[in-house]
Amino acid sequence: MPNTMNFLYSLCFLCFSISLFPSFSSPAILFQGFNWASSDKGGLYNSLKNSIPDLADAGITHVWLPPPSHSAADAPQGYLPGRLYDLNASKYGTQEELKSLIAALREKGIKAIADIVINHRSAERLDQRGFSIFEGGTPDSRLDWNATFICKGDRFSDGTGNPDTGDDWWGAPDVDHVNPQVQRELSDWMNWLKTEIGFEGWRFDLVKGYASGFTKFYMEQTKPDFAVGELWNNITYGQDGKAELNQDAHRATLVYWVEAAGGAVTAFDFTTKGILGIAVNGELLRLKDANGKPPGMIGTKPKNAVTFIDNHDTWSQRQWPFPDDSDKIVLGYVYILTHPGHPTIFYDHYLEWGGNLKAPLKNLAAIRTRNGINAESSVNILAAEADLYMAEIDNKVIMKIGPKGFPGNLLPPNAQRAYSGKDFAVWEKK
Ligand SMILES: *[C@@H]1O[C@H](CO)[C@@H](O)[C@H](O)[C@H]1NC(C)=O
Ligand SMILES: *[C@@H]1O[C@H](CO)[C@@H](O)[C@H](O)[C@H]1NC(C)=O
Ligand SMILES: *[C@@H]1O[C@H](CO)[C@@H](O)[C@H](O)[C@H]1NC(C)=O
Repeated sequence: MPNTMNFLYSLCFLCFSISLFPSFSSPAILFQGFNWASSDKGGLYNSLKNSIPDLADAGITHVWLPPPSHSAADAPQGYLPGRLYDLNASKYGTQEELKSLIAALREKGIKAIADIVINHRSAERLDQRGFSIFEGGTPDSRLDWNATFICKGDRFSDGTGNPDTGDDWWGAPDVDHVNPQVQRELSDWMNWLKTEIGFEGWRFDLVKGYASGFTKFYMEQTKPDFAVGELWNNITYGQDGKAELNQDAHRATLVYWVEAAGGAVTAFDFTTKGILGIAVNGELLRLKDANGKPPGMIGTKPKNAVTFIDNHDTWSQRQWPFPDDSDKIVLGYVYILTHPGHPTIFYDHYLEWGGNLKAPLKNLAAIRTRNGINAESSVNILAAEADLYMAEIDNKVIMKIGPKGFPGNLLPPNAQRAYSGKDFAVWEKK
């Protein structure tokens, strides 16, 4: 980023932080509106529209939609975008169908989040030398780039771009975000997604691929209502092949990225995801860190943490799935829907798995909404043992997961059971 811009941003830091970014501390429940197979089925935008009453029932405030643009033929899911302004070539539906879905969501007070894939871009074709040629999909030649817009060292670059500021990605040419034209044209495109299509927030794909300062820049240029970054690292394992109890370094990486990206963006809480998936199998003691707090990012910077159980990668592609047992998945949701952070409900769990999960998710979300549990709610851990985890949230809600009974003195006399099921219960204080 040019120095003049850095200077401008530091000058304007106060006004940005005060006026441009609304606080995310109002209760938010995200919904991931797709899985890896959604592009095969086609018609996602139209089918989601039919599910809006269901989404509203669960108190969902934001729906994360898949990457909207044209994508390489072998990547119909959208993660190898090419013509960014071409939203008609998507397997999920046309630009008009997308706009209509977003408008219908908005009528119910639900905001749409676009999946922003800007680490890399797939070329329209190659020039004689084998270097990338891009087309933006616009008549005015915006985003019509050539190999000079690709990071130096990438095999599709002609070597005149700047070095990559993050990890190289093997799957497609890595975009040179240091290039001012890239910065300007990507910001314009995101603002077009806002004003023309109706998106109100972003899910930044693969943020390890470029420096955090660029996320900060795009946040400042586009002022989303809500934004979350995918910074995916594996949790730490010991010599014995078991995940370490202490995952402080893992969550610290997420917090560091959020702060370096300007502090307004949130991050998926991969720490909580990893720990929770192990904990529900008889290791609930993992849910308390050395300071007596939740061990994930929600234990240190909950306001910027987006919790989730599974997504289109971890579950659909079995890259890091939660235990394949709907009873265990419900325990995961009992945890994230009663705890701080911004919880995400995954498409499969709510719209595909039906009976086993739909009712629990609705009930748990209703408890969250009714009690005003939000990203910054307080957690008082009452018990964390192998087979029992019990916590009080905001001095209002008490929850318990795990097969073991709990000592009666942990439950205050004014607690009334609000909802319960196999190996869990949630109470509200009256
Ligand atoms: C996509 O379709 C819409 C509506 O038919 C049209 O306005 C728009 O120009 C199309 N986009 C492209 C890139 O062809
Ligand atoms: C690549 O694009 C840049 C910027 O538009 C331009 O200056 C340059 O001449 C182009 N290079 C080639 C080889 O076409
Ligand atoms: C994380 O690391 C463990 C231990 O090395 C490995 O078994 C596991 O497959 C890794 N998971 C992911 C998602 O990379």
